[in-house]
Amino acid sequence: MDSPVRAEVLEDLAVTIARETAALALTVRERAVADPGRLDTKSSATDVVTEGDRACEALVRERLAAARPDDLVLGEEGGTSGTPAPGQVRWIVDPIDGTVNYTHGLPWFSVSIGAEVDGVVVAGAVVEPVSGRVWRAARGHGAFRDDAPLRASALEDLRLGVVGTGLNYDPARRGRQAAVLARIATSIGDVRRTGCASLDLCAVAAGWLDGFYEHGLQRWDVAAGSLIAEEAGAVVRLPGRSEDGLGHDGPGHDGLGDEATVAATPGIVAALVALLAAEGAGGI
Ligand code: IPD
Ligand code: CA
Ligand code: CA
Repeated sequence: MDSPVRAEVLEDLAVTIARETAALALTVRERAVADPGRLDTKSSATDVVTEGDRACEALVRERLAAARPDDLVLGEEGGTSGTPAPGQVRWIVDPIDGTVNYTHGLPWFSVSIGAEVDGVVVAGAVVEPVSGRVWRAARGHGAFRDDAPLRASALEDLRLGVVGTGLNYDPARRGRQAAVLARIATSIGDVRRTGCASLDLCAVAAGWLDGFYEHGLQRWDVAAGSLIAEEAGAVVRLPGRSEDGLGHDGPGHDGLGDEATVAATPGIVAALVALLAAEGAGGI
């Protein structure tokens, strides 16, 4: 096995590839919007995959294979290229996060690329094609938007917190999520749903959102964004992850089940988790 690669080297590569891919996403968006025949569906009638999703993931895979042929890739559209050996880098790619926004002409979508080693994300980049903003982090080296360091908000009172969330493509699950949202809405400051989980996590990193939660997110939705939030000082709870200190699948079970993602500033995270659990989020 080669000597361990520096996280900042992986971060730089993620940024370079995500930037190029973001430009491609914009180039194909016009055709994707104009021609609904190019929209296939996946898990439900509203879970679309566009020519842009496929072309972007192909470009990311091509660039990664050229730059780092020994690494593995897990991509939303193309699946995994193998089981990682100890110490081997695996890239986790959401070629377009926020596809519904992408197809509807809304600006909030991203190319999201993370790199993990032994199951832990060590570097990531989230690039917004429309604004050109680059969000990035390397584990232990901080998080940045372009060249500005990111810091999660200093809020300590959940009743004033602006909390983002997301809703699943499955209508039944979406209904359960909406019911929980209706119950927590009176106990928090305000609610946002952008339709792009990676950017929700970046918004927590920037202090634009005080917290974010969603059930049912996949690894590619959260890989890069969760590291960016964490490196900005937010507390992050990922699905099925036990080393985050919140104890959701250990003895200190937090009541949110195995599929919850939560990212929030330290001053409100415990209150947010407790509120969600009390209002039945574990069952959605
Ligand atoms: C979706 C977005 C959305 C979230 C969904 C995700 P996609 O990813 O991140 O904000 O609510 O759960 O599936 O399908 O646009 O890559
Ligand atoms: Ca996604
Ligand atoms: Ca996607």
